[in-house]
Amino acid sequence: MATDYENLLDLVRRRRSTRRYKPDPVADGDIEKIIEVARWAMSGANAQPWEFVVVKDGNTRAEIFELYKLHRTQTDVFNKLLPPELKHPVTGTLKAGQPSFRDAPVFIVVCGDSRTLLATSLSAEIMGYERTTYHFNLANATMLVHLAAASLGLGTQWISTSPIWEGKLKTLLGIPDWFTVPHLAPLGYRDYTPPPPYRREVSEILHREEYEQSKFRTDEQVLEYIALVRNRARAAYYIPPEKGKK
Ligand SMILES: Cc1cc2nc3c(=O)[nH]c(=O)nc-3n(C[C@H](O)[C@H](O)[C@H](O)COP(=O)(O)O)c2cc1C
Repeated sequence: MATDYENLLDLVRRRRSTRRYKPDPVADGDIEKIIEVARWAMSGANAQPWEFVVVKDGNTRAEIFELYKLHRTQTDVFNKLLPPELKHPVTGTLKAGQPSFRDAPVFIVVCGDSRTLLATSLSAEIMGYERTTYHFNLANATMLVHLAAASLGLGTQWISTSPIWEGKLKTLLGIPDWFTVPHLAPLGYRDYTPPPPYRREVSEILHREEYEQSKFRTDEQVLEYIALVRNRARAAYYIPPEKGKK
């Protein structure tokens, strides 16, 4: 029988960002199971800022996707400054017919109640808002959403919001002023096999007793690395056509 560690390693390796979804519905019971796992995330001072808006309505999902497209187009300005090998594949205008998270039958919108910062007010004052546990707490819960979905055979994608569309998203969904909406997770069944992921080796990232200077990467090595993962990302975002279609 597999050990807990083997099961965990298998699950984290099998979870893949999904970028092409089947329209097949997801059972409400599965959504509740995912939220059940997410609520067990760690949070600084046990502040638990997370709440989740589950959107299944097709029109609302389409409106959310329009907001995302606006973000894509406007943030392309930063990509334009980069040399070709460092450009990220998901900037700029989406091509017509390109598969995307718009097809996922469910969006789990992760939001946080920023009043929970009071649970860690000392650290907010010392660290500044951007470094408070609040953001890490929300990321922890989001990670569990993705892992729980993978354990149920479902695909997800981590979609980050930005100042360009976060406010509009809040208005669309009636999310209260005190809340932030850092991420959303489209959820559905995968319609393709994502390419194998790239991860840095344990030997590259593990330092024993002190930082091993021999492992410190030069600027050139970091740039080479970014070019490498960009290439991988281009493959990950390339979605093979369905059988029978060109
Ligand atoms: C903070 C964060 C933000 C991300 N933002 C996006 C995003 O906006 N769109 C997207 O398609 N993937 C996004 N991702 C997913 C990463 O691209 C993905 O996890 C990474 O390429 C590794 O691939 P894997 O998830 O298949 O292991 C994000 C992941 C994290 C943790």
